[in-house]
Amino acid sequence: MTQRISLTQYLVEQQREHGHIPGQLRLLIEVVARACKRIAIAVNKGALGEVLGSAGSENVQGEVQKKLDIISNEVLIEANEWGGHLAAMASEEMDDIHVVPNRYPQGEYMLLFDPLDGSSNIDVNVSIGTIFSVLRKVSNHRGVSEEDFLQPGKQQAAAGYCVYGPQTTLVLTVGDGVAMFTLDRETGSWVLTTEQVQIPADTKEFAINMSNMRHWDAPVSRYIDECLAGKEGPRGKDFNMRWVASMVADVHRILTRGGVFLYPWDKREPNKPGKLRLMYEANPMAFLVEQAGGLATNGTQRIMDLQPTKLHERVSVILGSKHEVQRVTGYHLEKVAAASSQD
Ligand code: AHG
Ligand code: MN
Ligand code: MN
Repeated sequence: MTQRISLTQYLVEQQREHGHIPGQLRLLIEVVARACKRIAIAVNKGALGEVLGSAGSENVQGEVQKKLDIISNEVLIEANEWGGHLAAMASEEMDDIHVVPNRYPQGEYMLLFDPLDGSSNIDVNVSIGTIFSVLRKVSNHRGVSEEDFLQPGKQQAAAGYCVYGPQTTLVLTVGDGVAMFTLDRETGSWVLTTEQVQIPADTKEFAINMSNMRHWDAPVSRYIDECLAGKEGPRGKDFNMRWVASMVADVHRILTRGGVFLYPWDKREPNKPGKLRLMYEANPMAFLVEQAGGLATNGTQRIMDLQPTKLHERVSVILGSKHEVQRVTGYHLEKVAAASSQD
């Protein structure tokens, strides 16, 4: 029988070999993984656990919250509050940051999460997930404020997601490649199933919400038109399209077999940079994708170089197979260069 490596064993051995997972970070990752197990159980119960449907409230972005959005948020907060590894948390489902209460020791890390990604898929039994990003508290002052969180994605200490699909899979990076763990429901343990994940540089598969086509910017239309033209077009090959509408599931497919994912800025709400959130959706996914050999940009800049200005900031996202992201980004840069030569 092949040897099964648990998440704990993996983290301990990584620390022994490379020294990049200190005790507090290991505890943090294990606590998040345990919380994801609890969320997986709730997701699995579905209607039997009375967890489906709307909670009747709205989050800071004005989106209707589902019961599972709230439950998952509470599970993550409760699990992470008391361990002494965190200074504060931030979530898609909370307007403001959640500072660790005074009765618990304050740790050196800060955790951000999208507790339940793909909310529109909950009630229809399609894959959903949890996304998380870990930052260090760099300032020396005692309290924690929103400013402490406003660090570019390249400063993340760790990032990952858990996808609740046909299998429950935890995907993790601490800045030394990407590893995947599958939940063994019989033993309750996370088992290492893929190490050093690599996204192929080329692909024939793209993911975008095609219903927004009429609102797209010219570089995005050009790219998708060329893909749709297939073998007879400028790309000389047929493309396939996939859109799960859960970023976790779309990114998981890309980490598994390649592809490109786009949620670009569009003309529906020109003042919004995009739909997805920089700090707890785009940054952690960008970190994973880059660690697996892919790229992630907002069209003109690397996502992880962007300096956030507020916690719930939105961003345009293009990520996945290296050569495709380079191509789409190139089309955007050509547009910028053409506009500036006319000035
Ligand atoms: P969330 O459920 O956390 O609000 O995120 C949903 C996001 C993301 O997961 C997905 O890629 C996108 O919204 C789907 O958008 P469309 O509804 O335009 O397909
Ligand atoms: Mn989301
Ligand atoms: Mn969400």
